[in-house]
This record gives sequence, structure tokens and C-alpha cells, in this order.
Amino acid sequence: MHDVAITGTGVFTPSQIITNDELVAAFNKYADLWNAENAAAIEAGVAEPKEHSSSEFIIAASGIENRYVLDKEGVLDPSRMFPSLPSRADDEPGYMAEIGCDAAQKALSAAGCSAADVDLVICAASNMERAYPAIGVEIQQLLGAGGFAFDMNVACSSATFGIQTAADMIRSGSIQSALVVNPEICSAHLEWRDRDCHFIFGDVATATFLQRDQAVKGDHFKVLSTRCATQFSNNIRNNNGYLRRTHDQMEDRRDMQFMQNGRKVFKEVLPLVSQHIADHLADAGVAAGDLRRLWLHQANKTMNDYIGKKVLGRTPEPGEQPNILQDYANTSSAGSIIAFSKHSSDLENGDKGLICSFGAGYSVGSVIVEKG
Ligand code: COA
Repeated sequence: MHDVAITGTGVFTPSQIITNDELVAAFNKYADLWNAENAAAIEAGVAEPKEHSSSEFIIAASGIENRYVLDKEGVLDPSRMFPSLPSRADDEPGYMAEIGCDAAQKALSAAGCSAADVDLVICAASNMERAYPAIGVEIQQLLGAGGFAFDMNVACSSATFGIQTAADMIRSGSIQSALVVNPEICSAHLEWRDRDCHFIFGDVATATFLQRDQAVKGDHFKVLSTRCATQFSNNIRNNNGYLRRTHDQMEDRRDMQFMQNGRKVFKEVLPLVSQHIADHLADAGVAAGDLRRLWLHQANKTMNDYIGKKVLGRTPEPGEQPNILQDYANTSSAGSIIAFSKHSSDLENGDKGLICSFGAGYSVGSVIVEKG
């Protein structure tokens, strides 16, 4: 068995930002328009009026201040309320491949490597832009990498599950290196017309480069141990799938976008994640007190505060459990990798940390690393 190291990470951040105030202003205009258009039904008691959203609620409930998106104009247009990403010709790069490639190139450059060093590309994300050919194969081709590629989807845990998959192949010797790429265009599956969730997501792409430890040139993190777990739940769900046409259900339906029972997710996922991390650390022989940093899934600040306290047995010191969700919102599988990428360079040789993601499925993935 070979040792595995993370030798580079990369983040693609879109140029357009939506603040809470901008988001709320657009939503409230949309709600007023909808209420005016449906005044008769509301008056007759057959439709509920849409209530206004508020920036105060969003920051208090989630900790999110801004989100990056690929297209701000479409999202903030009260008569549209979703991004406008014009369809691309088959011979042009797809959106996911394009932003994934940007992150992948940054990860390779951070590792001091090139596409020639890549044996495998996994595109691991919550949604795929098309059924086939795999987005991973398109990224492989755009990068000019050899080897092979494939797609995988475990919603918010796609990145950590991808890292375990890649690490296992490197450990066993079937490959020497892998890029795990997470292009998350969450703005396209978020229901911006629902005030319960319209603030939750943003767009980003991340990439993690893993190599056989012996091939490592510079700074790196040894992958000490990985663990994945799943438990079925309908509390985060999206019913949009390829059988939709066969069900004669092509109309604009709420469940074709992101749906969640946020309160239940909150209550059920917290104990699941805390126990998962405790068991993983115990089995890997790593004491919670040895962890210098936690890079957690970025969905909700209160959730992260709770998990940090549960794992460490005390309130984390500033910087021990860095959040990026205030700037990026929830970016699905990419969140913990953004936190890792932006808040790990100061660690010293021998320092240990834990990357952990969780979300739909339910799914939980954790990666214990040590600065090498
Ligand atoms: N503006 C103002 N009020 C709002 C609002 C908004 N945008 N959205 C909801 N409210 C109202 C609700 O209608 C509710 O009113 P009520 O008490 O009169 O019924 C109240 O605020 C509380 O809403 P609730 O949905 O219970 O809020 P919450 O504290 O549970 O926070 C989440 C909502 C989604 C932020 C929170 O549940 C969460 O983060 N859950 C985990 C989500 C998660 O990790 N998901 C993974 C996704 S991949």
C-alpha cells in the first residue's frame, strides 16, 4: 500500500456577488408581483400571499452575508428569478468543465505539477450539466491529461467521497495521482422564489490534487485516513431527473429544484456528523486535542459552531474552525475544500486537521490530514 498526499488545491470564484440586501430586494419585488397577479385567488382564500424575506433573518438563521454566482442579472430579475446561462454548442466547453478546469489548473500549479502528472480526473458534484459524456472526461480533455475520468454525485459530500475514492486507488497502486474536481453551479438548482431557502446557495468550483506520497515535491498534507457514511433521508431532495418526461411532468414544479426540511436536517445531521467524526478519530488513533484545524462543510454557522464544540470538547479558538460561508454561502461539496484551501497554509509540519462534509443522502465524509 502506498501513502497518499494532498499536494495542491484550487478555487474558482465567480466575479459576480449578490449581497443579502440585493437578494432580499429582488425577492420582495417578486413576492409583490406574485401577490398582485394572484390577488383574486388570495382574496378567495385559495392561495397564500407570499411574505417578504429579510436580511436580518438570513444572517441570524445561517450566517451568510454574500454569495458568488455565474449570473446575477437573471437571479435578481423579479420576473425571472433564476440565472441565465445560454446554452453552449457541443464543441464549446460546458459550464461545469470550464470552471472545473480553472480550479484544476490552480490545484496543479499549487502542486508544482502539470496535466502530464494526472492519472485520473473525478468530477464530483451535486448535479451534472448533462447525462453523458461525463463532465470529468471533458475536464480531462481540456486539461490535456491522460489516464481516465468519471463523474460521481453524493450531493454535499461529493468532494470528500471523491477524495476517498481517489486516495484508495492511489493506496492500492492502480494510479499515482488524481484530481478531484467540484464544479458547483448551485444557483441553477436553487429555488430563488422560495424565501425559506432562497439565500442558501452560491456558485464556485474547487479542485484537490492527490499524489502518491513518494512523488511529492513541495508542501503537502498526508492523507492519514478517510471515512464515508450514508443514511437515506428525503429531507434534502430534488426530483428533477431523466425520467421526468416519461412521467408527463414537464411543468414548472417546485420539487424540480432544491427542497429541504431545514429544521429536520439541522436536528438529524448534527448528531450523525458529531458521532461520525468521533468514531473516525478514535479508529484512526487521533485524539481530538491533536487537531489543529477543522475544515467543515459550509452550510450554516450555528451547525458548524455546534460540531466544532462537540468534536473538540470546548468552544473552538478563533481560526481553529474557519468558516467561509459568510462570503460564499453554501457551495455544496466545495465548501469544506474552499475552507481547507484558504485556511491551511499557516499549519506547520506535523499539524493535524480534519476536512468534513455532510448533506443530502444523508451523507458524511471525513478526511484526516497531517501537514508533511
Ligand atoms: N425571511 C424572513 N423570515 C423567514 C425567511 C426569510 N427568508 N425564511 C423563513 N422565515 C420564517 C419562517 O417562515 C418561520 O416563520 P414561523 O416561525 O412563523 O413559521 C421562521 O422564519 C423560522 O423559519 P425556519 O425555516 O424554521 O428557520 P431556521 O431557523 O430553521 O433556519 C435554515 C432555516 C434553512 C437556515 C436552517 O434550518 C438550516 O440551516 N438548516 C440546515 C440546512 C442544511 O444544512 N442543509 C443542507 C443543504 S445542502
